[in-house]
Amino acid sequence: MSGLTWTEPAASPLLYLLGQIKDSQSERGVECPGFLPPPSNQDLVARAISAKEKLGERVFILGHHYQRDEVIQFADSTGDSFKLAKDAAARPEADYIVFCGVHFMAESADILTHGDQKVILPDLAAGCSMADMAAIDQVETCWSDLEKIGIAKSTVPVVYMNSTAAIKGFTGRNGGTVCTSSNAKSAMDWAFAKGERILFLPDQHLGRNTAVLQMGLSLSDCVVYDPYKPNGGLTDSELLNAKVILWKGHCSVHGRFTINSVNDVRAKVPDVNVLVHPECINEVVQAADQVGSTESIIKIIKAAPAGSAWAVGTELNLVRRIAQDNPDKRVMFLDKTICYCSTMNRIDLPHLVSSLENLVAGKVVNQIQVEADTAKWAKIALDQMLALPAKI
Ligand code: 13P
Ligand code: SF4
Repeated sequence: MSGLTWTEPAASPLLYLLGQIKDSQSERGVECPGFLPPPSNQDLVARAISAKEKLGERVFILGHHYQRDEVIQFADSTGDSFKLAKDAAARPEADYIVFCGVHFMAESADILTHGDQKVILPDLAAGCSMADMAAIDQVETCWSDLEKIGIAKSTVPVVYMNSTAAIKGFTGRNGGTVCTSSNAKSAMDWAFAKGERILFLPDQHLGRNTAVLQMGLSLSDCVVYDPYKPNGGLTDSELLNAKVILWKGHCSVHGRFTINSVNDVRAKVPDVNVLVHPECINEVVQAADQVGSTESIIKIIKAAPAGSAWAVGTELNLVRRIAQDNPDKRVMFLDKTICYCSTMNRIDLPHLVSSLENLVAGKVVNQIQVEADTAKWAKIALDQMLALPAKI
């Protein structure tokens, strides 16, 4: 794929991360001039092509936008977590869904596909640190805190796609919905039509940014529930008066962009447009020119005028690919110290080849199967999300 010979636009901070220029202020950017060789053994590329051909229509490979190029080149469909959930559900004829993403995405695909289809995650260590920040027993404790003060019945859970199937099941059982970064506002509108307040989990930043920037609520309408403190670290009256109870969770990739990243790039690149994902902290989102889900970041830059400059605050694989696909624009990474999503990057070509070759040999390795009762309730919450009007 052409991405293997992609060259970085001049003066982008991303050059430091690729070892293409030196950073005089730190040991980062040890020089590695010239074109880097393709990251994967060409033999593996041939093996992936061959195994995929042998499997034909029986296999459908999904690739999240944050995946490596070496994996994305084999995806039948790419997208953010919302699009991939829909794509998985729309492919009932495939026996195997190989999900190049993270664990919670593969769980959702298993829930949305029919019982005879098998969903495979090429590396079981591809989890998500944000999803891990909300364990089901912690969420049940939070709900009983709300029950104790009589507000659980008027509270609607809105759970980000980036959560375990168990949390989605909890949400289905308690009349809530799943959302993604593409449709968080629609989900919150729907929830406020049903109840008086929202329990938003696990990403406090997506919840806060949607509430404040898109719903017209104030920062003081939101409180943060810390699962490691009694009553979430909140008084009963703070819980009673909140419009949005945010779970204390965050994305370890997007949560690291700071206001300094925004100020630095504005000082260095005149007329730069700062575009960030809503998982970034509120201060960064407020300082940015635009905020958009993964899918909308791609669309905004594609539609931008030639010659425009973009500093993008999202995962590095995606920013590289957007830069490569938009050679008429200057696309750069918002911060030079932040790297890839380490768990997403567990899926590499060796793991994909291993999954495909095992399937050719009739072996299903690393199947993701959600327990039936959890899947039943999680599907109710996922179907509710799929019925929401999408805002991309
Ligand atoms: P979306 O795919 O919904 O944009 O979420 C971003 C993300 O962090 C995926 O893990
Ligand atoms: Fe989880 Fe963030 Fe990685 Fe997405 S980018 S999988 S939310 S850690």
